[in-house]
Amino acid sequence: EKGTYPHYMLKEIDEQPLVIRKIVEEYRNENGVLSIDEEILAAMNEADRIYIIAAGTSYHAGLVGKQFIEKMAKIAVEVHISSEFGYNTPLLSERPLFVFISQSGETADSRAVLVKVKELGYKALTITNVPGSTLSREADYTLLLHAGPEIAVASTKAYTAQLAVLAILAEVTAVSRGFKPEMDLSKELGIIANAMEVLCDEKDEFESIAREFLTVTRNCFFIGRGIDFYVGLEGALKLKEISYIQAEGFAGGELKHGTIALIEEGTPVIALATQESVNLSIRGNVKEVVARGAYPCIISMKGLDMNGDSFVLPEVHELLTPLISVVPLQLISYYAALHRGCDVDKPRNLAKSVTVE
Ligand code: F6R
Repeated sequence: EKGTYPHYMLKEIDEQPLVIRKIVEEYRNENGVLSIDEEILAAMNEADRIYIIAAGTSYHAGLVGKQFIEKMAKIAVEVHISSEFGYNTPLLSERPLFVFISQSGETADSRAVLVKVKELGYKALTITNVPGSTLSREADYTLLLHAGPEIAVASTKAYTAQLAVLAILAEVTAVSRGFKPEMDLSKELGIIANAMEVLCDEKDEFESIAREFLTVTRNCFFIGRGIDFYVGLEGALKLKEISYIQAEGFAGGELKHGTIALIEEGTPVIALATQESVNLSIRGNVKEVVARGAYPCIISMKGLDMNGDSFVLPEVHELLTPLISVVPLQLISYYAALHRGCDVDKPRNLAKSVTVE
């Protein structure tokens, strides 16, 4: 039930800190240490390459998950869109492990790949919010998101839950491979949950950013580099699906190879700056679009912030920033849709789970 909330989407955005805490609790063993089923760890360790298969928002979570697994567990990862994989199957490695990411566990495009993978005799792990769902039943292993039912068509808490579970999978696998842990992940996820709470208390800020940047525009661009680029893709998907504003996410450095031609006087450009190594280069990209008339909204992380940034995120571990940088984008999309009179929870032409190929 949505209780006092006007929309499920807003309720589900607000639930994110609780969901992250719940995930940490669910994945802790009796000694308080994050752990994953031994069979799953064995499958991760046997694999010479991981193939993440997903659609939409879950695909965007997969792009971030690749960074987690490659950086922490040092296993090569490819991320594929389900509906493309079947027709355009890449050359597979010798010992692939398939990881399906799906909130509903019912997405037909993903299931078609799972059926094929099982026919080929490969192992599959499903990361899903729905126990007993088709993708969970048909895969060899399941990791649950523990996010509670997600009702709004636009996925919010499932995305951050997917990121948290992928981080845990990456970290626990890393430890099982003898690598020094990248961080104290349960502690860092606690910091994430607190930061999410701070952001959820700043709704007025995001409502006014939405009002200032998105009330009348026809389009909006999201730019970032590295994991900020992947979060930008998710921000753009959120905005387009519920507000019908044409929104696209771009890699900062790629703008000059074509997209910058789209920038006109007043075009909103939302830039993410949460990564120290690319902070100056993304800010250079902002200058390039501003010189062509763009109206910039910079969301940076504390410590990397500069004068004139529209919002400064609380500081969290640099690898985990997508868990919090997405929250302003979810809220900005929500308010943009609301201000434009759109049906936030049930956007046109869309269904919550897509059970046709
Ligand atoms: C966007 C959204 C969709 C889903 C996609 C995959 O907000 O909800 O893009 O992420 O249809 O759905 P699942 O994760 O259920 O496989």
